[in-house]
Amino acid sequence: MKILILVSLLVLAPGVRAQQVGLITNTEARKTTSLDGQWQVIVDPYESGYYDYRYQPSDNGYFKNAKPKSKSDLIEYDFDKSATLKVPGDWNTQTDQLFFYEGTVWYKKSFDYQRRPDTRVFVYFGAANYLADVYLNGEKLGRHEGGFTPFNFEITKLVRDTGNFLVVKVDNKRRLDAVPTLMTDWWNYGGITRDVELIETPTTFVQDYMVQLQRGSRDHVSGWIKLAGEKLSQRITVRIPEAGVSRSFTADGNGLATIDFNADLKLWSPENPKLYEVFIEAETDRVRDLIGFRSIETRGTDILLNGRPIFLRGVCIHDEAPLRGGRAYSREDAVTLLSWAKELGANFVRLAHYPHNEFMIREADRMGIMVWSEIPVYWTIQWENPATLENARNQLSEVIARDKNRAAIVIWSMANETPLSDARLAFLRNLISHARSLDPTRLLSAAMERHYLDAKTQMIDDPLGEFLDVLGCNEYVGWYDGLPEKADGLEWKTKYEKPLVMSEFGGEAQFGNHGDALTRWTEEYQANVYEHQIGMLKRIPFLRGTSPWILMDFRSPRRPLPGIQDYWNRKGLVSDRGEKKKAFYIMQRWYRELQ
Ligand code: GCU
Repeated sequence: MKILILVSLLVLAPGVRAQQVGLITNTEARKTTSLDGQWQVIVDPYESGYYDYRYQPSDNGYFKNAKPKSKSDLIEYDFDKSATLKVPGDWNTQTDQLFFYEGTVWYKKSFDYQRRPDTRVFVYFGAANYLADVYLNGEKLGRHEGGFTPFNFEITKLVRDTGNFLVVKVDNKRRLDAVPTLMTDWWNYGGITRDVELIETPTTFVQDYMVQLQRGSRDHVSGWIKLAGEKLSQRITVRIPEAGVSRSFTADGNGLATIDFNADLKLWSPENPKLYEVFIEAETDRVRDLIGFRSIETRGTDILLNGRPIFLRGVCIHDEAPLRGGRAYSREDAVTLLSWAKELGANFVRLAHYPHNEFMIREADRMGIMVWSEIPVYWTIQWENPATLENARNQLSEVIARDKNRAAIVIWSMANETPLSDARLAFLRNLISHARSLDPTRLLSAAMERHYLDAKTQMIDDPLGEFLDVLGCNEYVGWYDGLPEKADGLEWKTKYEKPLVMSEFGGEAQFGNHGDALTRWTEEYQANVYEHQIGMLKRIPFLRGTSPWILMDFRSPRRPLPGIQDYWNRKGLVSDRGEKKKAFYIMQRWYRELQ
């Protein structure tokens, strides 16, 4: 496939948030038209489809999808003669020419659309990494920043029956002020990485809602319903037929209805992931959702699910497709990864380090797997940059908006391995209060680091711990820190009377590479790390969960070791081809004991 290459300079304005109705919750309940499939693309590393030669934004960029009107007309691009890429999908694994590519790619999709009378139409993106400028029929709809959360724009006034062209400029260049920032240990897959749909709604519709048990309660449902449109003060009924619930509420002048009622519900749990059909019926709209109800809280160093102490038997996962590689995006990808986790004996997964695709969450809900969901505040972010904070807050708002009705999500994680400083603490405390204001029902955590009090004692006393419900800690004793047996003599302490989830531990092995237990990169060395880790973890009195790093080998530009890594991080318990390493069975044995 021959890709057309064009060139430009690299100065980017920080992104602005999409200005429209908020995020539409639960697109599954809507009449949608998929725009997935092959999109024409133009690879534009010099962004000459956006800027003129003076590096000023041009009014006549590729978003115009211009065609020569006469033989003398000068147009230097043509989407319809250009190559195509599949959407959803990252560009890096679709053609070797773009494997390492970081920059701009323009996407164009032509479509016809007969809008029904008295309806509104929105274009909904599951995600696009990283900065997306979106245009319809040459008009700018808006910009979205952040590669892992959904966004939508209204196109009611712009869409026409035939000959529509949707153009998206996607730029995955890394930036210091971005979230994530320049350095990560995962592949910076670029593109329109998740589904794109046209969503049709009534003129006044149920735009968003939260229907969950009140924090700490096992029979009191509380939440809200938000209408968008003209006719806002409506009567809205919440029905849960199987539980004999039918309660009506009145939306105020802003279309907001607060809901509150008792109900006798079978509670969602890994053993019984009960999902109820829930109907939200307004006078002008009706949506159906499948919602589980469970309570999650802490008491001292315990984590309580539905009032009973629980141990989170977990594993970390990147949103990377099993077997084929590249960004995961399908229900099948999710089922494969979560089934491997279940086979390991997991009742919990840490979805690192950014919001995964919605199928992962919906399948975890259905399969009974609790979820730690994280935003990519990863390593050293620009803590003092207000735009960076606004960006992180926005990604938090969007993931909570999308997933707040999923029982599977038990923990929102604010960050991973961030260095101690006052600016960092202020930044993360801002996110914590933002998360609590958006969702008072779930636990908050972060993957923190530890330090040695003395040669034999690890201490978790990161000041951030004071503001979290659950302590998360990453440690690599036996891999980055000494040899496997070093774990044997280690004791763990914390200054907090809170539960700990050891959110990362492990070591690398190339599947099929064998040797003695002290030879790096062999399955025996990795197994050796796990044997000693499990011994150490069992001795931690406040440990209430573990999520070893990581379920499956994943691509990382930081891992070039030839013949072993070849740009894969090999800490998987399973190889990228689904082959289970020795350490998988060691972890499985322990999780079976815990069960
Ligand atoms: C870190 C980090 C991961 C990384 C892992 C590793 O702790 O959180 O993103 O991949 O260590 O070094 O393999």
